[in-house]
Amino acid sequence: MGLLEGKKLLVTGVLTDSSIAFHVARLAQQEGAEVILTSFGRQFRLTQAIAKRLPAPAPVIELDVTNNEDLAALEGRVREHTDHLDGVVHSIGFAPQSVMGGNFLSGEWADVSTALEVSAFSLKSLAVAARPLLSSGGSIVGLTFDASFAWPVYDWMGVAKAAFESTSRYLARDLGPSGIRVNLVSAGPIRTTAAKSIPGFEKMEGGWPERAPLGWDMTDPEPTARAVAALLSDWFPATTGEIVHVDGGVHAMGM
Ligand SMILES: NC(=O)c1ccc[n+]([C@@H]2O[C@H](COP(=O)([O-])OP(=O)(O)OC[C@H]3O[C@@H](n4cnc5c(N)ncnc54)[C@H](O)[C@@H]3O)[C@@H](O)[C@H]2O)c1
Repeated sequence: MGLLEGKKLLVTGVLTDSSIAFHVARLAQQEGAEVILTSFGRQFRLTQAIAKRLPAPAPVIELDVTNNEDLAALEGRVREHTDHLDGVVHSIGFAPQSVMGGNFLSGEWADVSTALEVSAFSLKSLAVAARPLLSSGGSIVGLTFDASFAWPVYDWMGVAKAAFESTSRYLARDLGPSGIRVNLVSAGPIRTTAAKSIPGFEKMEGGWPERAPLGWDMTDPEPTARAVAALLSDWFPATTGEIVHVDGGVHAMGM
C-alpha cells in the first residue's frame, strides 16, 4: 500500500517539470493519491501540457491566489472532481525583480506588497478557501526558504518567507482544533523557474553542496518532494506548525 493511498490532494504551483510541485504530484500519484492541480492565466495551458507527463491524469483548475473570485470558486471547482480533500500543497512564490537581487534598500511598498500577498498571505487565502473540503486528519504543506537569515540577493522575498513561516504557525493554531495540520518544508536551493528569476541566484546557491554535511544537488527536487509527501501522509499525526529542513543539513551548521 502506498504512503498516500486513497488520498485526494490539491497541488498548486506546477509550472514546468522542474517545479517542486510537479515532483510532489508525481510522487503522490505513485504513492496512491489522486491529484488535482491548479494554475492561472497564461500559465494554465502550460500546466495542462506538463500534467500529461505525470504518471496518471490530473485535472487542472483555475486559481490565482490573489484573485478573490478564484478563491471563492475554489470549493466548487474542486467538487467537480472530488467531494473532499485530504491535503493541500502551497507551492507558490513570486516577487517583482525590483525587490530582489540586491535591491533591498530601494524596494518600494507597491512591489513589496505584491511579494507579501502572493508569497505569504496566500497561504491563509488558500487554507481558508480549501477549508470546507478538509476535515480532521487533513494536511496543508507549504515550501519555504529558511527565513531565519538574511541571504544574498533574496531581499524582500526573504521577508515574505518570514511572513509565510509565521502565517503557517498561526494557521496551525487556528486549524489545529479542527484536526487540520499545517507544516512547511524548508528546501535548499533548487534550479526552478522561480529560482532562476531571482537576479544573482547563484550567490544563494554558492557553497551549498560544500556546506551541507549530506551534500546537496541543486538539480534534484526529489528529496524536497518526498518530505512534502511525508507531511501529507498519516505518519506525522501530531505535528503542526513545524518546519522540516530538507537542505542537506546546512541549517544546522556554523560557519
Ligand atoms: N527553488 C528553490 O530553490 C526553492 C527553495 C525553497 C523554497 N522554494 C519555494 O518553493 C515554492 C515553489 O517554487 P519552485 O521553486 O518550484 O518554482 P516554480 O516557478 O516552478 O513554482 C512557482 C509557482 O508559483 C506559482 N504562482 C505564482 N504566482 C501565483 C499566483 N498569484 N497564484 C497561483 N500561483 C502562483 C507559479 O504559477 C508557479 O507554478 C515557492 O514557494 C518557492 O519559494 C523554492
